[in-house]
Amino acid sequence: MLPENHPPATDIEHFATHRPKGIVLLGSTGSIGTQTLDVIRALPNRFRVVGLAAGTRLDLLREQIAEFKPRMIWASDPSAAAAIAGEATVVPMDQMVQEPDVDHIMVATTGRVGLGPTLQALRLGKEVAICNKEVVIMAGDLVTATARKYSAPLLPVDSEPSAIWQCIQGEAQPVSKLIITASGGPFRERLIEDTAVVSPAQALKHPTWVMGQKITIDSSTLMNKGFEVIESHWLFGVPYDQIDVVIHPQSVIHSMVEFADGSVKAQMGPPDMRLPIQYAMLYPERVANPVIPRFDPIAYPELTFRPLDLQRYPCFATAVEAGRKGQTYPAVLSAADEEAVHLFLGGRIGFNDIASVVAKVLDRHEPIAEVTLEVILEVDDWARKQVQSVVGA
Ligand SMILES: NC(=O)c1ccc[n+]([C@@H]2O[C@H](COP(=O)([O-])OP(=O)(O)OC[C@H]3O[C@@H](n4cnc5c(N)ncnc54)[C@H](OP(=O)(O)O)[C@@H]3O)[C@@H](O)[C@H]2O)c1
Repeated sequence: MLPENHPPATDIEHFATHRPKGIVLLGSTGSIGTQTLDVIRALPNRFRVVGLAAGTRLDLLREQIAEFKPRMIWASDPSAAAAIAGEATVVPMDQMVQEPDVDHIMVATTGRVGLGPTLQALRLGKEVAICNKEVVIMAGDLVTATARKYSAPLLPVDSEPSAIWQCIQGEAQPVSKLIITASGGPFRERLIEDTAVVSPAQALKHPTWVMGQKITIDSSTLMNKGFEVIESHWLFGVPYDQIDVVIHPQSVIHSMVEFADGSVKAQMGPPDMRLPIQYAMLYPERVANPVIPRFDPIAYPELTFRPLDLQRYPCFATAVEAGRKGQTYPAVLSAADEEAVHLFLGGRIGFNDIASVVAKVLDRHEPIAEVTLEVILEVDDWARKQVQSVVGA
């Protein structure tokens, strides 16, 4: 029996289910990181920020520490992190995710840096929202097998996998096809010959999404769409032959799923990441949040679709081929692309060189069948060196 002044059972149940989730946010100063904090700020009763980790933007991290008062922080330079920590403790990301008061880890770093903490969190059965797609590209088999082994929820955040995840809710049977949408990037209307002279500033102007630099360049080459095919293959266990991509310039339908009877479900919304971020953070609940923009169909009188032109986007075909070949090819793909994008942004190679450099490094690769964490990291280092050698040559 409950004591007299005890809240009614329904409130206790409510508290048990809605106890503020202890959040670790890796990559808090980035595009996804700051949007995650928008979601948290608007729903203060649902989340507690336990840890924040960033790279080099220390001024922004300092502001976030003052506002959200995490008890743990991290930055690429730990002594610089200590100087702004205040009452927080500086804790490496691998350790931060293991703390008992951490319920949910949002992996919003970019590149390979999120892999170690993701695996650590999954090994403890913790809920991991994975936005850092390179982690799934380089180690899809290892990451999903670890999640299965430790019954750890691995929740999609990227808008296309999130759309697929939302479409399959309540469906008992396997899907017959995934249809991933792509905006086509800023150069979809340009003559292919003219893309050779594209500058980093031009490639960084995405027509519909505002994102970090690496993913914006990947979106302009459509490497990003190839990554999403690989990501969806691993996250939903769907064979590559059953994953299609279509160009949809309005970026309103985030992806579609076809079922055995031909019925197709689509998930729609304005191009804004705060909805998929919150969906992963509060799954399976849907909660009103003033920071998430609403969809107005009248603002989009026309939704159009066209086939993907493989000649225009060689990075897409290269990525999907690496995904299909499996073994260590996707790890090489991810590392070579990260390095090539870095060189492009630094003005060392041209826009079209990204595709040729990545393809050359993949051609040089001798795959390794047994893919462990050590093997992935070794291959990643190898691929980065190969990019330097290809470009130097
Ligand atoms: N942005 C989007 O709309 C979007 C959509 C779908 C998927 N994604 C995926 O989400 C991931 C993040 O993308 P983003 O656009 O948010 O990238 P971003 O703006 O470049 O942010 C990356 C974050 O990672 C941090 N970081 C970098 N190196 C680090 C290190 N060594 N240790 C700790 N933190 C480090 C950065 O810190 P500093 O800035 O302080 O250096 C920053 O907070 C990517 O994998 C991307 O593909 C993004």
